[in-house]
Amino acid sequence: MRKERLAEEKREALAAYARYVNPQKVRVLKNAGLDIIEGKREGAYVWDMNGTRYIDCVTSAGSFNVGRRNPEIIAALKQALDQYDLGGFLMCSKPKADLAKKLSEITPGDLQYVMYGTGGGEANDFAIKLARGFTMKTEVISTLKAYHGHTGFSLAAIGREEYRKPFEPMVPGFRHVPFNDLDAMKNTVTDETAAIIIEPVQGEGGIHPATDQYLQGLRQLCDEREVVLIFDEIQTGFGRTGKMFCCEYAGVVPDIMTMGKSLGGNLYPISAAIYRDELNDFIVTHPFIHLSTFGGSDLGCIVGMAAVDYIMKNRLPEHAAAMGERFQKGFDDLLKRYPELLLEVRRKGLMMGLQYTNDSIGPRMSYQLARHGVMAIYTGNEPSVMRLMPVLGIRPEEVDEVLDALDKSMAEIMKQGGIEKY
Ligand SMILES: Cc1ncc(COP(=O)(O)O)c(C=O)c1O
Repeated sequence: MRKERLAEEKREALAAYARYVNPQKVRVLKNAGLDIIEGKREGAYVWDMNGTRYIDCVTSAGSFNVGRRNPEIIAALKQALDQYDLGGFLMCSKPKADLAKKLSEITPGDLQYVMYGTGGGEANDFAIKLARGFTMKTEVISTLKAYHGHTGFSLAAIGREEYRKPFEPMVPGFRHVPFNDLDAMKNTVTDETAAIIIEPVQGEGGIHPATDQYLQGLRQLCDEREVVLIFDEIQTGFGRTGKMFCCEYAGVVPDIMTMGKSLGGNLYPISAAIYRDELNDFIVTHPFIHLSTFGGSDLGCIVGMAAVDYIMKNRLPEHAAAMGERFQKGFDDLLKRYPELLLEVRRKGLMMGLQYTNDSIGPRMSYQLARHGVMAIYTGNEPSVMRLMPVLGIRPEEVDEVLDALDKSMAEIMKQGGIEKY
């Protein structure tokens, strides 16, 4: 009886979502078996309102590194609510200062000053503004397939024309070059180039890791041509790739690093851009040039601090690296057994992309995986790539559960006629 009532409540919620928010989204998710209304959430798991349990391998594109409804972060937020509110955005505050100090300690090299925001796009907007303001140059170079956010400057930096086209004219001065191609970047930099912005692993673009040599080459190029190097670590940051920040693999320190998503502990929106002392000259002369009412609120900073502490205390980057290896063993086996479906796996820690042989496989795999208790989605930019980004604290037996679900789902698709059917 209770089950029926929950199923009915779920139907009503989906109908209301379709009617008042976005009907096409409901249709697309339904076709991928993901017309789930999130109910209970805990650790690596999420439950549909109707009671079905899933291992969450979507995690809002790497926003839930600390797990779903992490009790320690909840406790920190509850305690903060006894004393704090958002805080005045113009005012100096202890939580803002404390988190900024912590971020400067855990980021590589001499990154020091922090500008807060609420979302990732906003952090990238600031990074590009700072680069232009500081260099007094205008050109910005980003990469094809890059994703940097849906707001002004970030949108112009996106490397997918379909996302920009309906909103043209974009902010002028943006150029897009192939990813992992240092020569293309060298040939595009001019004396007017203010910044290069890059994701150390392209996420939305289909999980493409930058090579160490590429990032090192970009650093050298930027030094030679006096260009500001921006690393967008919004998806790769806070342990996701097996290091606290992905650029640590290449030993490269950018001039500005942006972060968001998991900084909010999956409880409170906050983003940040952290930059070198040298760039602060611009902010010193324009201390009120970039303001955000909600960015870096006191509550957000307290949650951010709790999230960073949790990640460090539990050595989540190391754990992510180990669990990534465990996944890889299973992927190697799947690659051998299902060559018709699975072409390659690209991975850095727990940022994992399964490259299928065909565009239709992504949605079909999402559908099958949901039937086997795993929530996973193909990337919007690349339906032939399934992104797997579980919570970083995923346990070995949960990794095996996901691998088992992948195996069963692939077997099911082969039984249905493999790729021939489509
Ligand atoms: C690499 C990267 N940069 C920026 C963003 C934008 O972040 P937000 O959606 O919080 O504005 C995203 C979001 O997916 C992202 O993956």
